[in-house]
Amino acid sequence: RGTVRLELRCVREDAAPLVLDSHPTLTVLRARLLPGSGDAPEPSLTFESRPFASYGDALLVHLPRPPRAGQRISLEIDYEAGEGPGVCWLAPEQTAGKQKPYMYTQGQAVLNRSVFPCFDTPSVKCTYSATVQVPEGFTAVMSATKWEKQKDNTFTFEMSQPIPSYLIALAVGDIVSADIGPRSRVWAEPCLIEAAKKEYDGVIEEFLAVGEKLFGPYVWGRYDILFMPPSFPFGGMENPCLTFLTPCLLAGDRSLADVIIHEISHSWFGNLVTNATWGEFWLNEGFTMYAQRRISSQVYGSAYTCLEAATGRALLRQHMDSSGEDHPLNKLRVAIEPGRWCLRLPLFAGVNPDDTYNETPYEKGYCFVSYLAHLVGDQSKFDAFLQAYVNRFKFQSITADDTLGFFLEYFPELKERGVDSIPGLEFDRWLNTPGWPPFLPDLSPGEQLMKPAEELAELWAAEGLNMEAIEAVDVTGWRTYQLVYFLDQILQKSPLPGGNVERLSKMYPKISKAQNAELRLRWCQIILKNNLEAEYSKVKDFLHSQGKQKYTLPLYRAMWAGPEPARALAMETFSATAPQLHINVQNYVKQILGLTGAE
Ligand code: BES
Ligand code: ZN
Repeated sequence: RGTVRLELRCVREDAAPLVLDSHPTLTVLRARLLPGSGDAPEPSLTFESRPFASYGDALLVHLPRPPRAGQRISLEIDYEAGEGPGVCWLAPEQTAGKQKPYMYTQGQAVLNRSVFPCFDTPSVKCTYSATVQVPEGFTAVMSATKWEKQKDNTFTFEMSQPIPSYLIALAVGDIVSADIGPRSRVWAEPCLIEAAKKEYDGVIEEFLAVGEKLFGPYVWGRYDILFMPPSFPFGGMENPCLTFLTPCLLAGDRSLADVIIHEISHSWFGNLVTNATWGEFWLNEGFTMYAQRRISSQVYGSAYTCLEAATGRALLRQHMDSSGEDHPLNKLRVAIEPGRWCLRLPLFAGVNPDDTYNETPYEKGYCFVSYLAHLVGDQSKFDAFLQAYVNRFKFQSITADDTLGFFLEYFPELKERGVDSIPGLEFDRWLNTPGWPPFLPDLSPGEQLMKPAEELAELWAAEGLNMEAIEAVDVTGWRTYQLVYFLDQILQKSPLPGGNVERLSKMYPKISKAQNAELRLRWCQIILKNNLEAEYSKVKDFLHSQGKQKYTLPLYRAMWAGPEPARALAMETFSATAPQLHINVQNYVKQILGLTGAE
């Protein structure tokens, strides 16, 4: 239950009634204007809800008279948020410690409209402050620059930089913190805090410093991390000042730091320069993938970074194979339409921004940014461009046309050469044509790490195994991503000739008994593709242990594409784990299993 106060300035004369985003699960109790809003404060304003899309309603607030352009009004709305998709209420058993309940919000892309009425679009930015009262024994944290505990278990927050609504985030639980750097601490449940501190103590500052050197000042003050309960649907969520992370990243060896580097990169791309519409989500994620790999190159070198990028390319391949290259979501620019509604019944469905979360904006977006860098031909000039771009558009929301216009303006010689219309590589084609990227960045610096993995995978795919050659390869020193790359090769070649996977499993317990989530995902995919019924329990255990969307959906797709026992495993696992999955993930799994509509 809460009160939201919106301080607005009218920019258009005809802005009446005031239209906000809301959700069927959100109950508005009262709306009123505060004194100083031009008119005498009304005791209550009238308001009504109208269906808008499958993912939310429009809340119409009738002002006593239309505000003049430039006029400021202060509007207060009392409301209750119910079981909407933006707030996750977890029972004690769904936490790591299993003692106390937990709640958190996840705003991106369009879920915060079920948490509070607002302009739930990335094209509008505002500062915010919040007061949150919680029960005794709980701590509240938010994506805010300032944080204070008051008396009566009340916490106050202030975000002093303008941000879009989807970056407002709250979590409440039995959580504690530990310092891991001069401007960073980790938050986690008490039973995880030691592991959390150990995983990232002393490394975050280096990532931030490299980011600042490449892209300009870090404007958000602190960079803290919150480790979420295992059902958190993402690897990470870049809530400003406080990144939310899946506990799967606690691998014990810092091997999954690429996710943190990714979220840190959003501090410039996404959180400072923001896509104005979700139809151009690639502006957030494609630039962030590029920035992530620039930081990674500086910290870990280009060989390792190219290897990681190659695993990203494999994910894009898998995604395009399973969705079909020509799928309309395999364009960088996606047509988002709310659909059309009549009495809460859809006349046509439109595209839900949350449904555009797939590998295309990430990895095809990465290829496009890499292509821009390739056109420039000089890494330091392109780095300077990225810094100028952030500086030019910071705190704004922009379209791809703004980005590409600025690129051509910054490099007039490229504009003169007409690089935006090179046949087959037109900017317009990049944006509006589905399918495999027309340019792939050169990942050959990673070959020294990829070649041995490719060769070993060849050996394991052979009809009669050459054990002598296999045993001659020592994988004990391989990095996690080298093993991931190897497993992706095995998966591509699967099903392997009979008996090979069983022998592979015995030969490398480091893989088949791995605790590392990226390795477990690949191993489970290999089990399913090779129909290794004896190892099904590993798939089940993995799906019971966490609820990340990018791990969960591929496994259900693989089970559903398999024989009857695999399908039965899918059904059994889903009925046991559904309540602990994020509602969006639940719905996507239902689509895969044919339990609702069509995928
Ligand atoms: N902002 C995204 C997560 C997201 C996307 C939430 C769309 C809701 C809708 C986050 O930055 C992200 O991309 N996470 C990735 C990290 C990976 C690419 C390193 C993830 O969770 O897999
Ligand atoms: Zn991201």
